[in-house]
Amino acid sequence: MKILNFGSLNIDNVYTVEEFVRPGETVTAKSHTVFAGGKGLNQSIAAARAGAEVIHGGAIGPDGGFLASLLEEAGADAGHLLRLDIPTGHTVIEVDAGGQNRILVWGGANRLTHAYLEDVFACGSDGDIVLLQNETSLTDSIIRRAHGLGFRVVFNPSPFPVNPDALPLDDVDMFIVNESEAALLANAAPGTAPATLLEHLHLRFPSADLVVTAGERGTIALLGGAEYVQEAFPVKIVDTTGAGDTFCGYFLAAACAHKSPQAALCEASAAAALAVSRAGAAPSIPQADEVRTFLKKRMFLQQIE
Ligand code: RIB
Repeated sequence: MKILNFGSLNIDNVYTVEEFVRPGETVTAKSHTVFAGGKGLNQSIAAARAGAEVIHGGAIGPDGGFLASLLEEAGADAGHLLRLDIPTGHTVIEVDAGGQNRILVWGGANRLTHAYLEDVFACGSDGDIVLLQNETSLTDSIIRRAHGLGFRVVFNPSPFPVNPDALPLDDVDMFIVNESEAALLANAAPGTAPATLLEHLHLRFPSADLVVTAGERGTIALLGGAEYVQEAFPVKIVDTTGAGDTFCGYFLAAACAHKSPQAALCEASAAAALAVSRAGAAPSIPQADEVRTFLKKRMFLQQIE
């Protein structure tokens, strides 16, 4: 089983600040670093580092060649990337003293075409996973077509769609969401407990698998009709950017390797913990042996084997 990931590739401009800039305020950043990013690229790198076979479907401009190289170095197939004559997508990210982030994204070259989608779909076969986020064009077409072709559709609706009801969400086989996306998807109030969000989402999407991540409060999931809880591993938070993507890639790679749901959640949580303890998005994604060492130190290794 392989993963076809239709996902964004961005150049992240990361500015560290003591506190997020408030409306009307001008603040001097403490540092500025350019990192590789994009929810799609991060998830492909995480899944590939975790051992999955990944084909990345996405688009870059003339300035994005290093993103393609990074994907290849991680073991993902970047040979199908669309190369456009417009600048690669980019972000402006503020990271505060607590490691939390705010992200402003400009899509740039993250524009896919219907013909391109077909080229990438042709690389997969029945039962493979089609993974997507909401940072490229054609989200609706990717979901509908992937479902029609018999792929298993995994949707990480981030950034959250402006009009989710316009998407064919009943064609989604698995949602991987953080708690704020879960609340929006379930039409629940912000701050609703993750377990309640899971119930709401299950009522709305009764046949879908559901994974709700809640940062330091862990993860709750409904997979194959059974509920799972995974605690987060406490670490010193440096930068949360890309941690959700790391979780997503590691979780799906473990699923592709037919690991148990609990093992997949445990491994993904460990990978995300390592990611939040480092700066940047793509550069913070751990290698598989780092995840194993992390779990071994905490006597959790037996849970993923
Ligand atoms: O999820 C983190 C990612 O979101 C960043 O790498 C940034 O590019 C935005 O897409």
